[in-house]
Amino acid sequence: MGKKLTAAIIGLKFGMAHLEGALRCGAEIAAICDSDPDALRFAGEKYGIPEEKRVSDYRQLLGRTDIEAATVAVPDQQHSLLTCELLRSGKHVLCEKPLALTREDIRDVIRAADETGRTCMVGQICRYTPAFEKAKQIIASGGIGEVYFAESEYAHDYMYLVDNWRADPKRHGVIGGGCHAVDLLRWLVGDPQEVFAYGAHKLLPQVPYDDATVAVLKFDENVIGKVFVSTGCKRDYTMRTLVYGTKGTLICDNTSPTMTLFVAGADGMAHEPQTIPVEVNNHNAVREFEVFADAIRSGKPVETDAREGAKTVAACLAIVESSVTGRAVRPDYVF
Ligand SMILES: NC(=O)c1ccc[n+]([C@@H]2O[C@H](COP(=O)([O-])OP(=O)(O)OC[C@H]3O[C@@H](n4cnc5c(N)ncnc54)[C@H](O)[C@@H]3O)[C@@H](O)[C@H]2O)c1
Repeated sequence: MGKKLTAAIIGLKFGMAHLEGALRCGAEIAAICDSDPDALRFAGEKYGIPEEKRVSDYRQLLGRTDIEAATVAVPDQQHSLLTCELLRSGKHVLCEKPLALTREDIRDVIRAADETGRTCMVGQICRYTPAFEKAKQIIASGGIGEVYFAESEYAHDYMYLVDNWRADPKRHGVIGGGCHAVDLLRWLVGDPQEVFAYGAHKLLPQVPYDDATVAVLKFDENVIGKVFVSTGCKRDYTMRTLVYGTKGTLICDNTSPTMTLFVAGADGMAHEPQTIPVEVNNHNAVREFEVFADAIRSGKPVETDAREGAKTVAACLAIVESSVTGRAVRPDYVF
């Protein structure tokens, strides 16, 4: 068995998923960190992390040579600062999505990753959701023929989540949460080359941006798509995703125990759908951490590196710009 990866976990609300993922992958937890003493104590007690390993300021971790890797799950506005400082102090970093909120901050992270050569992975966790992994396999094996249309949605009620850093207009719902659906479509289909979006604002008066956005997407090579983001929706969380191909159609989401596959038969018609059972695991932090740890140990690149995370934010920024200006926008993927 290889040497245990020593990791620090920074930000301990959603970051507890990173902590659990790291523990279940056999990592050694060198430190946990949160600026809120209650969050620090709660996570420490819940996971049996002794007091001497609990720190309130991430800067206490920068000079520590015993820490190889760090995970970052603090408010999105701080992602670039912490990621850059950690990379420059020699740590490998798994940073939550979205990589950053502005192109300038994104460029800072890419530069730090390039200059240090450390693993910099963006936590686009939907790529480890079993139903979406299965969808990717079916598409790649030609199971639905050539894709001509794909849509995904991010519908998640933020009613009790937005009275904080999420109300910042820079953290528009399309960038903060909708990036999951945008990244999923980029992964399954490719990069949208042009987007056109409309927004509505009816459910979250406490935020200064639209709480619902729909975008039509034009991909390369005769392929079109759609993204719908609602952060005030009155329903359970879903990322319902449909992919239409020339030989079949896939319907799946991250919260359903089954997915549906239509495949055309000899007569060219798809009569009976197949129901495929899938594990429901919409925050597969164990698999995500495993990929991170494997990349560090093997020296191989990660799929969701800083440039890949940057492209997802670029597509989201284009959607927001289109919904505000009423014009079609071509995402700028060059950083
Ligand atoms: N992948 C997912 O599905 C998913 C789900 C939820 C949140 N997230 C992401 O995780 C991150 C955190 O979200 P959250 O819901 O946990 O937010 P939160 O506000 O509930 O918690 C953030 C925590 O970070 C701490 N913190 C803030 N600044 C800090 C700093 N400089 N140093 C140390 N600790 C600091 C806060 O005290 C708090 O405990 C965000 O980037 C969010 O987008 C991802």
